[in-house]
Parts: sequence; C-alpha cells; structure tokens
Amino acid sequence: KKDIYILGLETSCDETAAAIIKNGRDIIANVVSSQIESHKRFGGVVPEIASRHHVEQITLVLEETLHQADMTFSDLDAIAVTKGPGLVGSLLVGVNAAKALAFAHQLPLIGVHHIAGHIYANRLMKEFAFPLLSLVVSGGHTELVLMEEHGSFQVIGETRDDAAGEAYDKVARTLNLPYPGGPHIDRLAAQGQPVIDLPRAWLEEGSYDFSFSGLKSAVINTLHNAEQRKQAIKAEDVAASFQQSVIDVLTAKTVKAAKEYRVKQVLLAGGVAANKGLRAALEEQFAELADIELIIPPLSLCTDNAAMIAAAGTVLYEQGKFEDLAMNGYPGLDI
Ligand code: KG4
Ligand code: ZN
Repeated sequence: KKDIYILGLETSCDETAAAIIKNGRDIIANVVSSQIESHKRFGGVVPEIASRHHVEQITLVLEETLHQADMTFSDLDAIAVTKGPGLVGSLLVGVNAAKALAFAHQLPLIGVHHIAGHIYANRLMKEFAFPLLSLVVSGGHTELVLMEEHGSFQVIGETRDDAAGEAYDKVARTLNLPYPGGPHIDRLAAQGQPVIDLPRAWLEEGSYDFSFSGLKSAVINTLHNAEQRKQAIKAEDVAASFQQSVIDVLTAKTVKAAKEYRVKQVLLAGGVAANKGLRAALEEQFAELADIELIIPPLSLCTDNAAMIAAAGTVLYEQGKFEDLAMNGYPGLDI
C-alpha cells in the first residue's frame, strides 16, 4: 500500500501552523508560529491583528515545513486545512492559502473541524481503539466526545457557559497574570494549597455537561471580599483552589462517562490538556482502571498546531471526503 502524505494548515486563532504527516500517524515536519507576544498587551486575541499576522506568516511557515520535510508539492497527496470553528478573518487566511495551493498543484482539498484536529493529535501518539472518549478542553471548547469509529463524533456533554480555558484566562486576568493565563495559574497552583472553598458545578444527576462561569464569579467575589476586609489572600492558594475545582469536575465526569460507555481509550485534547494538575489527576484515576487506556499528547501537540489537522485530514482523505473551491471558513461550525 502506498504511503499517504498530507499537508495540514491551521490558522483558526493565533497560531499560524503547517505540518506534513505520513499515513495519519507520523510527523514528517511540524512548524508553529505563535502570535502570543503581539496580543499580550491587549489581554486577549485581537481578531484584526491575528489575521494580519497570519497573512504575514503563512508563506514562511509553509516554506519552512517543506524544507524540514525535504519535500515539494509533487510528494503530497492532499492539502488539509482547518475550516472552522474559529475567528473568521483568521480561518480565511488558511482556507484561501489551501484553496490556492490545491488549485495550483492539482491536489485534493480537505476541510477539517478544529476540534476533530485536537482529538486526532492523540493518534500521533497511539493508534485509536474504539469506542473511545475524548475530553476536549480548550480556550473555546469544553466537551466530552464519544467516537465509535474514525470520523464519527458524538458530543455527550459540553459547557453551558464558559470553556475551561476561558475560565482559566478570566481568573488569571483578575489575578493580574499575563495572557494566556492558563499556564500561569497552573504554575501558581503547584505552589499553593486548595484551602479556599469554591463551588463545583455538577449540574443535574447524570448530566455530562459543564459550567464554569459560577466558579469564575466565586473566585472574583472571594478576591473582592478579601480586599474589602483588608484580608491577605495568597494568589497561589486562589490558583490552587480554582484549579482543584476545575479538575475535580473534569476528571469525575470523564471517568463516569468512560465507564458508562465502556470505552477502550480516553484521550485528552485541547490547550488545557497542557495543564499539569489535570494530567496528573487523570493519570491517577485511570491507573486504577486497567481496561481503559489513557492517552495524553505532549504539550506541543496540545496547543494549536497543524500536525493534528493533517492527522484528522488523513481520515477524510481515506474516506474520500473532499471539498471543492467553494469551501469557506465557518466560525461556528458543529463537529
Ligand atoms: O487549544 P488552544 O491552544 O486554543 C483554542 O483552540 O482555544 O487552547 C488555548 C487555551 C487558553 O485558554 C490557555 O490559557 C489554555 O489553553 N492553557 C492552559 C494551559 N496551557 C494552555 N490552561 C491551563 N493550564 C495550562 N497549563
Ligand atoms: Zn485549539
């Protein structure tokens, strides 16, 4: 059987990324250009700045990827690109680059859902065994996704308000930590104790949905009250207490769903998958469940990248699911 080489492009938010993946599993080249420094002083991603950076970076990132792989377009089988969800101006840069390259080099065009990409980052570590459950935790999403086979995604629970990463970033901002706040809270949490009593949103019995806005408000109120009463409160303890509350709910619901759906594997996906506390808590829980395999990608594959997009795109290639040049960027795409 002939090897399949797919070029992936990802520009949905604030990373300009390209990668080449062999047979959906092996990384041949993987390049990410982050814009975080440009957005930091605004405390979040500014859409107009993001799209302008993508336009400036995409050709350079692409050239670097081909150079790393020591390949030309004639070595490729298809071009896969994130078609949504994300910031529309950012998505359009990748989508238009992919369309132009597919047309110019007469290669098939593949449109990938960003979250499918985050899930498939795990296949760069280990072959999938179905059914499997993915805990997807990023800046825009918090979802439990069940997969019975390649390319089939059933959302069994999702956040009703803030995404986990969004809660991290908002709490970080109230603690005057730089954007993106997730890694800073994670670092502080390791130095503090979870001594502050904060809520855990379990929701109705049996629900796999999440809610983080009440927790975020509770943290803000706690800081406000302490300030009013001139009580000293350690940022490390606030971070540890907040993180413990997030982790308790995420791990408990993931374990319950993994058992209920009798899955063979549990995957962790999305930017918040880089969280040290969450990784440790899941590893501890699943160490006791011998018949369920836990897969956690390395940090570089947790945050946005194009290797995951090419990996997910390979499955669509094998299923013959191609796009034509009418493909657009879709900011609010369902998985
Ligand atoms: O997946 P991602 O790179 O972009 C989206 O698709 O949203 O996720 C970014 C999110 C940000 O909210 C960031 O604060 C969070 O992931 N994050 C973390 C950590 N590293 C990144 N959250 C908690 N702990 C971390 N170590
Ligand atoms: Zn992402």
